[in-house]
Amino acid sequence: MLLFQVVMKSTTRLCSSKPIVTVNGRFPGQTLYAREDDTVLVRVVNQVNYNVSIHWHGIRQLRTGWADGPAYITQCPIQPGQSYLYNFTVTGQRGTLLWHAHILWLRATVHGGIVILPKLGVPYPFPAPHKEVVVVLGGFTLPFQAGKTYMLRLINAALNEELFFKIAGHKLTVVEVDATYVKPFKTDTVLIAPGQTTNVLVSADQSSGKYLVAASPFMDAPIAVDNRTATATVSYAGTLSSAQTTPTNPPPQNATAVANKFTNSLRSLNSQKFPAAVPQKIDHNLFFTVGLGINPCPSCKAGNGSRVVAGINNVTFVMPTTALLQAHFFNLNGVFTTDFPANPPHVFNYTGTPPTNLATTRGTKVYRLGYNSTVQLVMQDTAIISPENHPIHLHGFNFFAVGRGIGNYNPKSDPKKFNLVDPVERNTIGVPSGGWVAIRFRADNPGVWFMHCHLEIHTTWGLKMAFLVDNGKGPNQSLLPPPGDLPKC
Ligand code: C2O
Repeated sequence: MLLFQVVMKSTTRLCSSKPIVTVNGRFPGQTLYAREDDTVLVRVVNQVNYNVSIHWHGIRQLRTGWADGPAYITQCPIQPGQSYLYNFTVTGQRGTLLWHAHILWLRATVHGGIVILPKLGVPYPFPAPHKEVVVVLGGFTLPFQAGKTYMLRLINAALNEELFFKIAGHKLTVVEVDATYVKPFKTDTVLIAPGQTTNVLVSADQSSGKYLVAASPFMDAPIAVDNRTATATVSYAGTLSSAQTTPTNPPPQNATAVANKFTNSLRSLNSQKFPAAVPQKIDHNLFFTVGLGINPCPSCKAGNGSRVVAGINNVTFVMPTTALLQAHFFNLNGVFTTDFPANPPHVFNYTGTPPTNLATTRGTKVYRLGYNSTVQLVMQDTAIISPENHPIHLHGFNFFAVGRGIGNYNPKSDPKKFNLVDPVERNTIGVPSGGWVAIRFRADNPGVWFMHCHLEIHTTWGLKMAFLVDNGKGPNQSLLPPPGDLPKC
């Protein structure tokens, strides 16, 4: 069992020190190591004056939604002085993921990596690296030995930034994203959204020297982001400290072509051992518009009587005061409704000019799915206010990214081009600005599962919803009962 003590820790940055919320006094937090099929027990003890909860981002949590972590969705927060034991099994997953606080903005400092190794004796489906390095983007050093291959487990734990990652003078071979293997491909630049993880192999094929590593922002939210490029250095053993560093030239912030090229290169490994189980028949055909909007707000001083909101199908999700999963399990009425719309209220037409239906309604609505039903979900970005890239994260599932395009989704012609053979499988996907993505998944995990934009500012504005998946009738097809120490609201 691991102990995660949530404590204040003072950090010094730019000569002033200020206390931040941390796990065990570390920032970023410790990496959690497990093997495929392990049961993981983490006792979280809250010793700060804020409510907390921890989410194991990308862990499927089969039937164990109680351990998923989003506050007010699967659990009430752990209040100051309380503790909660997260208990889950890592079923059929291996790779890199991340854990982070899942309440308000706390994940800015409360986050760390998750490394799931294959079962003992099971090799990777690519050549074993000499060394593995967990890289939580945002400042690090990498010592290299010439001739060896390294595996970097890249984790984007940023609140609001989709990042390009590059190492001067070196090619990166992508082998895994979001704890699923992909067909290896070589690239100069990796694109990685908040909440996403990417494993790359890099051969130390230069003889010596120092090479700049850069993580620079892709357009994402133009509001309130820090546009600095985070840099680090790869330094070969034996390099003189006086040696010059080879610079990287990171892609410009609007390098959509670079982003598209990377995204379109991702394919599931789809090998005999790791087949891609893409649902071929669809039970629920959903079309969600995702984006920002504007609501009238006569009492608002700023914004000339209006306020920025965000929504899915023009619904701004309102956080409940009791966790949805509890309300569902104990049949509490009045906490949520199951009328989340399968389509937007108006036919959506993205023409490059803002549509007129900006206003949203507010509600705690979920979309209900029968056990084991299959879902195709097209998410269309509305890009009403400005270019917006929305990294959408679905809890409780991996999904297949079967299609992607710019402009309006065409329900007649676009599905013909879907990749239903080896689409990449992941848990977080960028909906391109002014474009769409299509995903498919099987609702084989009973419970209540949050789906939201992983740009924290958009989540706060309401770009979120939840799926409710019913229990199945067979053995092992029901949500397990809640643990005795489940926090109360
Ligand atoms: Cu990584 Cu719901 O979040």
